[in-house]
Amino acid sequence: AAPSPKGTNSMAAWQALREEALGCTRCPLYAPATQTVFGEGPIDAEMMIVGEQPGDQEDLAGRPFVGPAGQVFDRAMAAAEVDRTRVYVTNAVKHFKFEPRGKRRIHAKPGTGEIEACRWWIGQELALVRPRMTVAMGATAARSLFGRTMTISRERGRVLDLPDGGAAWITVHPSYLLRLPDKVQAEEEFARFVEDLRAAAKVVA
Ligand code: URA
Repeated sequence: AAPSPKGTNSMAAWQALREEALGCTRCPLYAPATQTVFGEGPIDAEMMIVGEQPGDQEDLAGRPFVGPAGQVFDRAMAAAEVDRTRVYVTNAVKHFKFEPRGKRRIHAKPGTGEIEACRWWIGQELALVRPRMTVAMGATAARSLFGRTMTISRERGRVLDLPDGGAAWITVHPSYLLRLPDKVQAEEEFARFVEDLRAAAKVVA
């Protein structure tokens, strides 16, 4: 078979892009963070999943979704029967934003300026991977992908069009599920999250 147009050249371009991102100074978040956490996964993935920003553990590991939110994400992906290794996983903001509290680093929400500054990278990742389906997990990811504020409750549950082409699906962020104090509600919301992932994957199946 002929090589895919998304093949070898894209891989080199992606590696160059990632390399460049490691030195990113487009916003001030790079200074206190340990490292840039770039996206990962197959360059020819049909599906891209976008989170908010790396957390404490991702900042140290240099990989997206390896901490507590990542564990929820992995559990949901398994329940939805979506193979994470076949999906390109990235974040809207590629440096960990935090406030130091004693020895701990507490997650701080990225601001619009930081999301805007980092949108350039997502644009490059989308142009290279050209996923047929992109899932935005949470408001930051949705804002980054659509370039405007999106209300999750209103946009959730159906296929949307991304501004530059391709389909999108908006769902909640796995950290939201970790914060729900009520066990029953947490289980219901987890099930809804699983159904979102399953439905989004089905669009490109
Ligand atoms: N939360 C995110 O949005 N992304 C990560 O990589 C980890 C936690």
